[in-house]
Amino acid sequence: MVDMDTLVSLCKRRGFIFQSSEIYGGINGFWDFGPVGIELKNRVKNSWWQRMVRVRDDVVGLDTSIIAHPQTWVASGHVASFNDPMVDCKACKHRFRADDIPKSAKGHPEGTCPECGGELTAAREFNLMFQTHVGATTDSASLAYLRPETCQSIFTQFKTVQIVSRKKIPFGIAQIGKAFRNEITPRNFIFRSREFEQMEMEFFCHPDESTKWFEYWVNERADWFRSLGIKPEKLRLRPHRHSELAHYAKACTDVEYEMPFGFSEMEGIADRSTYDLTQHMNTSGKDLTYYNDATKERFTPAVVETSVGVDRTCLAILADAYREEEVKGETRVIMGFAPHMAPIQVAVFPLSGKLSETAMNIHNDIKKNFASDFDDAGSIGKRYRRHDEIGTPYCVTYDFESGNDHAVTVRNRDTMAQDRIGVDKLVEYFNEKFKR
Ligand code: GAP
Repeated sequence: MVDMDTLVSLCKRRGFIFQSSEIYGGINGFWDFGPVGIELKNRVKNSWWQRMVRVRDDVVGLDTSIIAHPQTWVASGHVASFNDPMVDCKACKHRFRADDIPKSAKGHPEGTCPECGGELTAAREFNLMFQTHVGATTDSASLAYLRPETCQSIFTQFKTVQIVSRKKIPFGIAQIGKAFRNEITPRNFIFRSREFEQMEMEFFCHPDESTKWFEYWVNERADWFRSLGIKPEKLRLRPHRHSELAHYAKACTDVEYEMPFGFSEMEGIADRSTYDLTQHMNTSGKDLTYYNDATKERFTPAVVETSVGVDRTCLAILADAYREEEVKGETRVIMGFAPHMAPIQVAVFPLSGKLSETAMNIHNDIKKNFASDFDDAGSIGKRYRRHDEIGTPYCVTYDFESGNDHAVTVRNRDTMAQDRIGVDKLVEYFNEKFKR
């Protein structure tokens, strides 16, 4: 399995992901996706949206603002209890999550800092929400929060969306968007960061049917992860023990992937009962119940939630794809993405600068149908190495023979086998190769 340092270094070298604000020394817990990384991220988001919204008739989309009315976070419980216990070192001023301190070092005044051996403060609760102020004043009346999860506005807009979409229960509302948490110790690259993206879907159903829908969504979500082409043996479902559940949750199962640092949560699927809508009704005083015309029953819908991190999914795909091979005494690094998830699908190379113009025409044609990259810099060997490392499944070389036989060489990333294909047959050839 690839170690994290190797993966982080490849991600930087090849333009997947870099530290935010690098020229200022970086800022801990924030990351930027580069030209190749954003293509991968978009594939993840498109695949989720397609499967969760587009091919279904019982889920609609939504895109809400990052800053919501602060009462939202009172109702959700985040203002009162979205806390992690934190300790500070009195000597080196390092801050730790109290759960990260080895048991032997815990408890003031004996506690000693894992960094410098200094004395630690007693644990204090630390709220993970980022605060800001809306408007020109900075008093408590203008206090607002960057959302720590995207789902709350789905709950507060539930009734409006239900009415405008004319959906009957059961149905779901899906959203992709940024979330922010002032994590005390961001770590493991993009696995735990302070700004990240979530893909959440809240499925509203009759409370008597939430168990059935919970089971359905656990299977459906596990299936989506398998569809990304990652190794099935590295995926597992972990049902939460009763003691782990939030007080309002009836059941929760995580989808986990075996990262280089162990099995880790990618997604949580939860039966949240009627808690969310009840909280928002109590806090806002507005009616969010649902009336079933057929049964003449009015009830508060229960919610089954599926909540997955875009960044964590990208990290799983990246870690899963990395492999090294020995070829003629040299190490070949390959990102073996499933072809449909590869950031760049086809790269077009002119063998020499003199052939650039004609090769560019081929690239212009291919890019109408596939994510294509034109690359004329450096030796062919170097270009292959770059595209192996960004995981491009096919490289097309236009050579000195191409003008005569109207054909190009197509090299397969995984087998390195080369096919000679007529230029007019290329789109058909790739349609076949990327067919799912
Ligand atoms: N609405 C439920 C909710 O937000 P969560 O388990 O706190 O549940 C859901 O978060 C998903 O969001 C996680 O499974 C993970 O993929 C992603 N996530 C949470 N915190 C994250 C962080 N600090 N960095 C990156 N992804 C994170």
